[in-house]
Parts: sequence; C-alpha cells; structure tokens
Amino acid sequence: MSGGRAKKVAVIAGDGIGPEVMESALAVLDAAGAEFERIPVEIGFGRWKRTGQAMTEDDLETIKECDCILFGAIATPPDPGYRSVLLRLRRELDLYANIRPFRSRDLDFIIVRENTEGLYSGLEEESEAESRTVRVITRCGSERIAEKACDLAAWRKKLTIVHKANVLRSDRLFLRTCRAVAERRKVPAEDMLVDAAAYNLVVKPQRFDVMVTTNLFGDILSDEAAGIIGSLGLCASANIGERWALFEPIHGSAPDIAGKGIANPVGAIRSAAMMMEWLGEAQKARRIEGAVQWALEQGRKTPDLGGSCGTEEVTWAIIGYLKRKEGC
Ligand code: NAD
Ligand code: IPM
Ligand code: MN
Repeated sequence: MSGGRAKKVAVIAGDGIGPEVMESALAVLDAAGAEFERIPVEIGFGRWKRTGQAMTEDDLETIKECDCILFGAIATPPDPGYRSVLLRLRRELDLYANIRPFRSRDLDFIIVRENTEGLYSGLEEESEAESRTVRVITRCGSERIAEKACDLAAWRKKLTIVHKANVLRSDRLFLRTCRAVAERRKVPAEDMLVDAAAYNLVVKPQRFDVMVTTNLFGDILSDEAAGIIGSLGLCASANIGERWALFEPIHGSAPDIAGKGIANPVGAIRSAAMMMEWLGEAQKARRIEGAVQWALEQGRKTPDLGGSCGTEEVTWAIIGYLKRKEGC
C-alpha cells in the first residue's frame, strides 16, 4: 500500500466474543501507534435479529470504499435460507487466499486455503429426499491460490499440496494445477491426501511448512492445527484479494464463553498485526507479534490455554510491553 491519504479500515466487531476481542485488537493497534480511519460497520447475527437483514447493499458499498476490513467474529443465524455474510464478503471482494499461520514454541507452518470455490460454491439444492452441493474447482482458482502459496513457500522450505484426488475427480485438477505452478516456480513440493494430512498434523506437525488446499479441507484442517498449537483463540488469518483484504481470528463467536470476559484476544490481535503488514507497516506488525509472544511467555494466558487471566489482563500486558518498548 502507498499514498499519503489515511487508510480506511472497516471495523466489523460482530457477535458473541467478536466485540470483546475487537476492543483488544483496536487498543493494541493504538498502543503500537497505528494510524488509520476507522469505519464501524454493523453486520451479522445481531443486525439480522434487529432488522431482518445481516448485511445490506449499502453496508457492502461502505466496506468497498475502505482499504481493508478488520473483522471480529459473527454468529450464523438459525435460518435455513440464510447464507453467511462472511462468505458473501469473501466472494464479493474476491478474497481468494485465506492465509492462516500457526506458530507456537516449536511449530511454525501456514495453511493457505482457497477461499472462493470448492464446496463453498453456493450451488446447492435441498429437499427432504435428496440434497446436493456442487464442488467447483477451476484451473484459474487453483492457479492463483497455488501462486500465493508458492510466494510464501519460496521463503520457506516446502509446499504440501493437500487433496483427495484418489476419490474426488475435481481434486485431480487442483493437484495437477498446483504441481505445475510449483514446478514453474521451482518451489519444492509434495502432495498428501487430506486424511493422511489430518493424521500427520497430529502426530508430526513439524514436518509441515506451507500447506495449500481447497476451501472446506482448509477450514477443517485449520481448526485442527489451532488445537495442535494450543487454542483456536491464538490463531489469526488474512483473507487476501487483488484489491481488498479482510483480517480476522479463525475462531467464531464462541457463544459458550461470550460475555464472560475470558475470550483469548490473541487471534484478533495477531490478525490486526497481519493487517498492519498488509498496509505496509511491517515494523508495527513485528512489534505487536513480539509483544504477544512476550505476554504468553510471561504466563499471561486466558483459560483456554490453562491460564487464569481475563481478556483485559492479557490485552493490558501486551499494551504495557508495547509502551515500555516504545520507539524500539
Ligand atoms: P467457535 O470457533 O466460536 O468456538 C469453538 C470453541 O472454541 C468453543 O468452545 C469456544 O469457546 C472456543 N473458542 C473460540 N474462540 C475462542 C477464544 N478467542 N478464546 C477462547 N476460546 C475460544 O465455533 P462454534 O462454537 O462452532 O461457532 C459459533 C458460531 O460462530 C457459529 O454461528 C458459527 O457459524 C460462527 N463462526 C463464525 C466464524 C467467523 O465469524 N469467522 C468462524 C467460525 C464460526
Ligand atoms: C471460518 C469459518 C467460516 C468458514 C464460516 C463461519 C462461514 O468457519 O472462517 O473458518 O466456514 O469459512
Ligand atoms: Mn472455520
């Protein structure tokens, strides 16, 4: 990103723990000296309950006028005709690459999830007797996600293409295309069936570096990866397109802990750091990540990590560190 005008960020706090972790992320961004114009947009379950619509065309226009989006989490309304507004945003803004880094003391790998097609095509029929969802894999969609994964793998060790081509004909195209891109880019690549990948993630996660996969496999494997590094509450993501990007923790609205003040804010804070990096503020991103790591090492942990701190205590520890190291 470049240019003199202040960047505009659509801030979508969402539902459940969404607003709780968003408050933390914004406070940490302030402490890191991040400067941007905040445009609050209310979308999600709460909005749907209040007005019957989770997001309007006007909301979408407001969001499109922003450079990027910082997103908390939203709950899915219990309405059979409802299609997730998050999925709609990913589609409308063509946020095709969902980048999900997983880091802990001894692990460091990234899941690159195709974010616009696969079983999330929206091509569905539902009846009492028979229901279908069409799994769409395109060469163009596979090529661009493979390119993004190779961008990341080129700086690392290897790419693992995760698929189910032994059963799904659609994945033969995905596998062929990813292999061809990796070969052209001279990125060392292997491939692995998704069931074996799920197993290997549990028994030897250190063997992974960058994994690229289709939409639903990426969704499921990333919650599994979160469990392996310790908690869903630790994990961040960037949904990247050519023009816009959306940054969000990978967890949902967590209704079981909402309102209790114990949500882990780290995933949202790390998502804010990913946003700073995308906005061209890599140093601020690194400072935030460093502060998060320091707080965790000091044992400032929420109950999901076996700690006894609340959301605010963890957030204040991170902010305190940033303030002490101001200018570093
Ligand atoms: P969830 O991710 O909200 O929660 C799964 C489990 O992880 C829960 O036990 C929860 O307490 C725990 N957890 C999640 N985030 C945490 C955090 N920051 N700190 C501590 N613990 C945390 O998944 P769910 O319960 O299956 O879904 C709830 C709602 O969220 C559903 O309506 C779902 O559709 C929606 N959802 C939204 C998003 C999103 O907005 N990006 C992502 C996933 C699910
Ligand atoms: C995620 C979520 C979403 C998904 C839901 C809420 C639509 O689980 O971002 O991982 O399935 O992609
Ligand atoms: Mn998910």
